[in-house]
Amino acid sequence: MTASACAKLILFGEHSVVYGQPAIAVPLRSIRLKVELKKSSQDNVSLKGVNASDSKRVLSALLIARQQHNIHYHLRLGIYSGIPLKCGLGSSAALSVAVTRALSKSKEPSTVAAAALELERVFHGTPSGIDVAVSAYEKPVFFIRGKKPIFIRIRPMWILVANSGSRMHTKKVVQQVRMRLQQNPALWQAIRNMGAIAATAKNALAKGDIKKLGRLMNLNQTYLKWLGVSSPKLEGLIKSALGSGALGAKLSGAGRGGCIVALYATKAKAQSATRKIKGAFAVRIS
Ligand code: PMV
Repeated sequence: MTASACAKLILFGEHSVVYGQPAIAVPLRSIRLKVELKKSSQDNVSLKGVNASDSKRVLSALLIARQQHNIHYHLRLGIYSGIPLKCGLGSSAALSVAVTRALSKSKEPSTVAAAALELERVFHGTPSGIDVAVSAYEKPVFFIRGKKPIFIRIRPMWILVANSGSRMHTKKVVQQVRMRLQQNPALWQAIRNMGAIAATAKNALAKGDIKKLGRLMNLNQTYLKWLGVSSPKLEGLIKSALGSGALGAKLSGAGRGGCIVALYATKAKAQSATRKIKGAFAVRIS
């Protein structure tokens, strides 16, 4: 049994989405994680570059998947990830979706997303569900926790993604934000403002109003900084992206590490910026 699932990128509203605000994410369809499942004498996982505690979590997810699909024999799970791990591009959601696709008779995206969310919980604790929704539907979504995703139109545009090289721990960062909000309730305003930014961005994406989107990204980043989820490395990448002509830039995903996303007016500008920012790649979103 084989299947694959794609990476995702959150454009607006990470963290605020945990608290019921809307967020927007897009699939990166060309960046994929593949799985191969075979009958085996015991459950086991093969994945290059993961440590023991990661493979323990993958094994727990595999057990849940077997239970969901009434599979009583053991499985060997081979993972071939084109998605860099723990950098905000949704590798754990893609793994959850790919395993579900491989085992489930129904390939219907809402069924796949619901089952995959159970697996994602092993990795992220209490995920909002935005990552598995994008990976299962492979469509841009306007997402509100607990609701059916709304599929949105996006005028094709070019972005740059750059990885800070620091791995991030979504569960830990989400917990830290929760504590910060408890200690400083004034920060709830940042959460509400990020929701309003996502709502405004939805129309700007449909119209292809890239100047406005750039401003909204910068503003979203300001609020992410208030929440304490940026880092010197991420700020350095954002500065480089803006210095190389980006209309706006922000971190993407849980933060403290992982990736930034920057918006460019043209493909040529995005591609030229990748030559100045180490390890960055340009991609068209639609
Ligand atoms: O760490 P990532 O890339 O999976 O992004 C998580 C996004 C958060 O809003 C921080 C958490 C969530 O569950 O939505």
